[in-house]
Amino acid sequence: HEEFTKVKNIATIELGRYEIETWYFSPFPPEYNDCLQLYFCEFCLNFMKRKEQLQRHMKKCDLKHPPGDEIYRSGTLSMFEIDGKKNKVYGQNLCYLAKLFLDHKTLYYDVDLFLFYVLCECDDRGCHMVGYFSKEKHSEESYNLACILTLPPYQRKGYGKFLIAFSYELSKKEGKVGTPERPLSDLGLLSYRGYWTRVLLDILKRHKGNISIKVSIFLRDQDSFLSAVLPMPSSTYLSCVEKFMAVTVHSVFPSIVGMFLPFLMDFDIQQLYYKLGLSYQAGAMVFPINLDQVAGAMLILYWVTSILSQELSDMTAIKAEDILTTLQSLELIQYRKGQHVICADPKVLDRHLKAAGRGGLEVDVSKLIWTPYK
Ligand code: COA
Ligand code: NA
Repeated sequence: HEEFTKVKNIATIELGRYEIETWYFSPFPPEYNDCLQLYFCEFCLNFMKRKEQLQRHMKKCDLKHPPGDEIYRSGTLSMFEIDGKKNKVYGQNLCYLAKLFLDHKTLYYDVDLFLFYVLCECDDRGCHMVGYFSKEKHSEESYNLACILTLPPYQRKGYGKFLIAFSYELSKKEGKVGTPERPLSDLGLLSYRGYWTRVLLDILKRHKGNISIKVSIFLRDQDSFLSAVLPMPSSTYLSCVEKFMAVTVHSVFPSIVGMFLPFLMDFDIQQLYYKLGLSYQAGAMVFPINLDQVAGAMLILYWVTSILSQELSDMTAIKAEDILTTLQSLELIQYRKGQHVICADPKVLDRHLKAAGRGGLEVDVSKLIWTPYK
């Protein structure tokens, strides 16, 4: 696309009480080609070449918040939903503004197809835009977010993670899983990785290991030898991981006797270890499984993690693939020298949580009043 190669045109913008340096080119209409600075009305997002124009505009602009419906209010934070079809000019202005801070995205100026969620800090002068995200009204690829932006003066204060969390809360209300449109910018990826890590590891840490697990057995024509080494169970997370491994072991044996069934499992782990004669060695639970004996072996680890990620996906509305890549990038799932190893030292979990940064501003779901777009 042509716009990628263009050099930055507008150097600064004025928006509300901020003068903001821009980052990238944005395709404003040709009559703005000769300006270095633009003046935005912070409420309707109309932009002007001169300060006096803006001052005149502010006297007659009667908006004190974005157009559209206020769907969330908690303390001084409000979120507005704007239908790009009903507020076309606003949608386009928002896209021009956003492109100044977005490098790689193809911005769709066909705003009809999008909803815009604009986050504001409100005071007695009005609702001041902090950031936004856009969302396709209908996404075939289960995208729940197209573009996301926190305006530079507000960055690094947790608003980005708030916007991300908000997009998943909408997905939960729709009863769907969602994922952000690709590619993600560096900052976008950092924010998502931080959000995913925090949400997933918080659940894993809290979990008492009593998830009911739906297991489907997929037999494959393959002979292999697999042994799994787990650290000694010493946290709720470990007991959860252990249980998944135990499910695997348990399922291999029924398959030897020719069972092939999807079933719901709930069993006593101690009892199972006892039956299978598993042992603790040097602080680790070791159980070799000789799959030579199995007529058709299965790809055990993939299968285990897909159970895990499906389960987590239902709880969080995060797409299973994003869960897998997150856990893989944290090296909680590894493949080493022909062995699959799940490594989940509670100290490692805590370290990852710390590295994932702060939680961001919380979305109070009870303050969200919204029905999905039809
Ligand atoms: N340097 C290093 N890490 C950064 C960072 C920076 N400048 N900005 C954000 N991060 C990382 C941090 O891990 C941060 O968490 P922490 O502050 O707890 O450590 C995390 O991202 C999110 O921070 P948060 O304050 O919630 O996000 P934000 O309000 O700054 O918004 C973006 C994040 C991506 C929306 C914002 O950077 C932005 O608008 N960028 C320009 C547009 C863009 O690239 N959008 C994404 C397109 S896919
Ligand atoms: Na933050």
